[in-house]
Amino acid sequence: MEQSAIRVLFVCLGNICRSPLAEAVFRRLVQARGLGLHYKVDSAGTGAWHAGQRPDCRSVEVGRRNGVRLTGRARQVEALDLVNFDYIIAMDRQNLADLLALSHSHNGPPRFHLLREFDPNPGDTQVPDPYFGDADGFDRVYDMVLRSCSALLTYLEKKRTGTIDRA
Ligand code: 4NP
Repeated sequence: MEQSAIRVLFVCLGNICRSPLAEAVFRRLVQARGLGLHYKVDSAGTGAWHAGQRPDCRSVEVGRRNGVRLTGRARQVEALDLVNFDYIIAMDRQNLADLLALSHSHNGPPRFHLLREFDPNPGDTQVPDPYFGDADGFDRVYDMVLRSCSALLTYLEKKRTGTIDRA
């Protein structure tokens, strides 16, 4: 029987800085590993202030320098997302708390994680909000996001291919 695609949603506050970058980086890794048929990727924000806007130009720029193209427009996460996506990947603990408050069920899918749970060098396990900082902050975010997304995809592939137990 054909397996359905694994649906992964990256979530931050505004959906203009961190989560569109994570979405684009993860998608590029999926393509690079020839796994495009197996994953559906999107991003959203817990807040609505930037809904409809393009990603922040500083995230677009760090992506461009690293060969990653950011697409799409910001949108606010909705309760249905928590049903429709298999994995909800939050950037920081406040995002995660806001998502859990929106969720009616803490059992079964979707599965909530902090992105940096997967970072081999996890620090405090959060991707810091770079919005009010300088351009260097976006480079640091990119490095964290790349390490974490690479390890996340490896983890999901082990589950998908049955190399480790589904949990
Ligand atoms: P993001 O960054 O959550 O990574 O998209 C932010 C964007 C906008 C604001 C805060 C964080 N804001 O306060 O408008």
